[in-house]
Amino acid sequence: MALIKTFAKKLIAWHGVDGRQGLPWQNNRDPYAVWVSEIMLQQTQVATVLERYPRFMKRFPTVKKLAAASVDEVLAEWAGLGYYSRARNLHACAQQVVEQFSGIFPSEPELLEQLKGIGRSTAGAIAAFAFHERAPILDANVKRILARLFCIDGPLQDKAVNDRLWSLANTLLPTQAENMPVYTQALMDFGATWCTTRKPVCLTGVKKCPFAKDCQANLSGQVLLFPQKTIKTKSPEFDCDMLLMRYGNFVLLQKRPSRAIWGGLWSLPESTWVPKVKASESGAVLDLKAVLSQTLPKENLPSLMKVCKTVRQGKRIKHVFTHRRLWMQIWHVPATQAYLFTHSELQWVPLAKLGEYGLPQPIKVLLQGLNLVRGDDLKS
Ligand code: ADE
Repeated sequence: MALIKTFAKKLIAWHGVDGRQGLPWQNNRDPYAVWVSEIMLQQTQVATVLERYPRFMKRFPTVKKLAAASVDEVLAEWAGLGYYSRARNLHACAQQVVEQFSGIFPSEPELLEQLKGIGRSTAGAIAAFAFHERAPILDANVKRILARLFCIDGPLQDKAVNDRLWSLANTLLPTQAENMPVYTQALMDFGATWCTTRKPVCLTGVKKCPFAKDCQANLSGQVLLFPQKTIKTKSPEFDCDMLLMRYGNFVLLQKRPSRAIWGGLWSLPESTWVPKVKASESGAVLDLKAVLSQTLPKENLPSLMKVCKTVRQGKRIKHVFTHRRLWMQIWHVPATQAYLFTHSELQWVPLAKLGEYGLPQPIKVLLQGLNLVRGDDLKS
């Protein structure tokens, strides 16, 4: 088919006029810099990455520096970017590169893919940008472009559909390896800005798509039918209680287990999550003993009851994860002493030092709000 032969050339020409230019991670052949940018860009908007990427690179300028840092330092630097497994994997991957490859990233996509947190498409992107390897990428945007251009039927999760798309992605690559960086960037940009899910330019008529006469979905008037949608079920909802225990300007934080949601971050002590019940939406009532026993290690309960006298119901915060929705009921418990826990994962942290801790975004917002309020105001 004619398009197979002309696709790369047309796409590169499109990028010259309408693609993204001058991004700080572009035209960079340092695989470390490319890798960090690709991981950060995975679930974060370009505008946010533009702000946070230079800061991350300044803090951890080389793979060796990143590997030598503690995972807590990396998580703290990542705070606010979400999807924290990316930061944990980034740290683990840096250590793999140092230990298994003497600190030098391999150039083969097959080897890159063996590293922590690097999937097949990201491996292709790093190989293409940093090493000019003729390696394809196939993220959600590229899948959409190809499914439309070639009217690929069937849900994207199907192995046969996925294999077909990878094979097409490979066939369409430019013949000249030196064109790989611009081609790969063009593919990403075209999917993100022109061949978008809901308002592709061919339908809005704002711009003239360079593939209008090649795209089988466009020619048959079926652009929005590709890629085929899979029916999504609503994610389950959970309730939990969270303890906001304060002593003056100190707040009690608990380090989360590394495998849990927000793994390795510091958060408020919390109860087990339970499937949400409708009644919990209004007027939750819980006594002090119940709050403390549900959120802190049981053996501390008798002593804690002596230093904590009251409990006050605070905000109810909703947080949406990829596969779950969580309702967090905050309980304010002022303490008359900073009760010392024997568990190292429970720490009294001065509000002014919160910035040194990796905190889940909604907890960070909540505590930042507290920082503006005098400690006394919360004592009652
Ligand atoms: N998403 C993933 N990688 C990207 C890149 N290099 N540029 C823009 N968006 C991206």
